[in-house]
Amino acid sequence: MVKLVVTDKDGRDVEVDARAGLSIMENIRQLPRSVEAICGGLCSCATCHVFIEHDWMQRLPPRRYEERVMLSSSRNFDTARSRLSCQIKVTAELEGLRVTVAPGEP
Ligand code: FES
Repeated sequence: MVKLVVTDKDGRDVEVDARAGLSIMENIRQLPRSVEAICGGLCSCATCHVFIEHDWMQRLPPRRYEERVMLSSSRNFDTARSRLSCQIKVTAELEGLRVTVAPGEP
């Protein structure tokens, strides 16, 4: 298990024991007030939008073209912090990662 800290839509921090090999979205969508992820991880909805702290952003794989396109259509897109949580696989290297569910996403 990999410990993640998720700040939900109400601003509450929730610790999650995430399963490596699954995406961040798959590990956090069951939380109340979390991402909705209506496309199920197909990179076609942007309802799994999260913000990630600067230090962690540099340690993640870069956004692929499809992710950049989807994020650019989000009204809360932040170039420095936005990611689609379905596009990031949880690995042991992400121990302690903090993610914030983007406000205003459905
Ligand atoms: S779940 Fe739809 S883009 Fe991530």
